[in-house]
Amino acid sequence: MGGFTFDLEACARPNIVALQPYRCARDDYKDDGSNTLLDANENSYGPSLSMDLSVDHEIGGRTLRLAGLNRYPDPHQIELKQLLCNLRQPSDPLATLTPDNLFVGVGSDEAIDGLIRCFCIPGVDKILVCPPTYGMYTVAAQVNDVEVVKVPLEVEGVSPSFDIQPAKIREKLESDPRIKLVYICSPGNPTGKLVDPDRLKAVLECNWNGVIILDEAYIDFASHGKSLAHWVNDYPNLVVMQTLSKAFGMAGIRLGFAFAPPGIARLLNNLKAPYNVSSLTSTLAAHAVSKTGLEVMGSHRELILQQRDRLVRELPKISRIGRFLGGYDANFLLVEILNSPRSIGGQPDNEAARAVYSQLAEAKGIVVRYRGNELGCTGCLRITVGTEQETTKLLAKLEEVFREDR
Ligand SMILES: Cc1ncc(COP(=O)(O)O)c(C=O)c1O
Repeated sequence: MGGFTFDLEACARPNIVALQPYRCARDDYKDDGSNTLLDANENSYGPSLSMDLSVDHEIGGRTLRLAGLNRYPDPHQIELKQLLCNLRQPSDPLATLTPDNLFVGVGSDEAIDGLIRCFCIPGVDKILVCPPTYGMYTVAAQVNDVEVVKVPLEVEGVSPSFDIQPAKIREKLESDPRIKLVYICSPGNPTGKLVDPDRLKAVLECNWNGVIILDEAYIDFASHGKSLAHWVNDYPNLVVMQTLSKAFGMAGIRLGFAFAPPGIARLLNNLKAPYNVSSLTSTLAAHAVSKTGLEVMGSHRELILQQRDRLVRELPKISRIGRFLGGYDANFLLVEILNSPRSIGGQPDNEAARAVYSQLAEAKGIVVRYRGNELGCTGCLRITVGTEQETTKLLAKLEEVFREDR
């Protein structure tokens, strides 16, 4: 398959390839309850919590032991990693994902940054992004003094596809060996649109020694298609990132993960801080992806999709709402705000969108996201799909804002 020229050792930073990861005594002697643990300068008297610590909290068959919080968490998280593999290859007899394919971290933001630190020499190497896209790729690059090359999504035309442009990406990659990483978001933020897998394949088949990162933060909201996580064992230079912050509704625990070929996963795991995922986070994450957690996720997703469909039906009834741009594959919509009613030729307009954004927040208590300055998103607001009550409030308040603006 693609990535035919990929040479991991030549692509990653030499200091990371050579890195000896931090080791702790518990890599040699497990914390199985039988040992007296005097190796990690923890506090054997226990956590500074005043509640009754003898009570364990049962969470869907897993025990959350507050009394154990004086101990460092498991640096390897193999059990959680296996559950994440099961999540993306539920009953596939040819399943190939194993915990060796995984990095788990503090949100997918940790993976975004870790990949840059792993592959890009500061002040020398570059990443490629496809705007309009998630802003953290550029922020992480800037923090690491890494240049950002942009190849926009297809935004031209009356009805832009907002898909990636493989030929243009290929041209950049094959002419600039300093580009080490390509971040592709599918479904896109703020476009809400799945990338066409054939276009992704065309990028993966570029003759170039770098890594393609597919950010699937919103994949569980996609109307068709499913995660391409299993592709990481077909393409040696593909990483697929996911998170529990969106469909799983667990943004507060900060758990993101990246499926990768084992060599790349090993480098990411070598360079991370040893105890990056807390025991509270891993216990709750394991429950969220267990059978019962998945049932809850599925029913919440259903409710979100219903409200998304409702917004798609109801928003266009408001005269100063224009088109939906992008797609319907995420838990948000990208929608144009017009400078006058559609019936008299209103046009999408940044000033109008910014005014609606401010009015909604300052006078109506609803915060959405202004995206008008993003490429191809003139006059756009990005609206997250909320509960039924929140949707009712949003629709009513939007009408009020336009009425008051007459
Ligand atoms: C496309 C995309 N990727 C990643 C993230 C970050 O997710 P996490 O909460 O896992 O850091 C977000 C958050 O908004 C996002 O939109």
